[in-house]
Amino acid sequence: MTADALAQHINALAPQDAHQLLFDCCACSQWADSLLQSRPFDSDERLLECADRIWKSLDESAWREAFTHHPRIGDQAPKPDQSQASGELSKSEQSGMAAASEETRAEFVRLNEEYESRFGFVFLICASGKSAQEMLDTLRSRLNRDPESELAEAAEQQRLITRLRLTKLAQP
Ligand code: GUN
Repeated sequence: MTADALAQHINALAPQDAHQLLFDCCACSQWADSLLQSRPFDSDERLLECADRIWKSLDESAWREAFTHHPRIGDQAPKPDQSQASGELSKSEQSGMAAASEETRAEFVRLNEEYESRFGFVFLICASGKSAQEMLDTLRSRLNRDPESELAEAAEQQRLITRLRLTKLAQP
């Protein structure tokens, strides 16, 4: 890829295809609509800055829309409303779970449930390159946060996931 291949790829897509690609990266309609309307981008850096700026400007309900499209860490199956591309990305992002023991998996099930009943959304972590143990330790420590700071942390993790997905999915 050249330095600006991502911007060029997204600029060149038909609006519907570009929207779908963006939605696969971050399943928030307002974010995808606004980013689409900001085309054309003159560099990858501009596109990524714009993606971050829009994401940070959104409210809690828009953030939560994106969170609902992620399966739990440890779930093998994609969410029913997830696109195929997004489901495949989720699977590869969580590849650190492949080596997890039964005990670790069971602990994820228990703590994911505890997390969801405490905060009301799925535990999100930029999982690429992380081991199951690392993610489990993070889940444990994030359970101790207050709801406001945990919402901000989940939004930050979504921002990081989106950046990785944009770069990966837009490779022609
Ligand atoms: N972080 C990166 N991908 C995923 C995912 O599919 N689910 C959750 N819960 N977190 C993620």
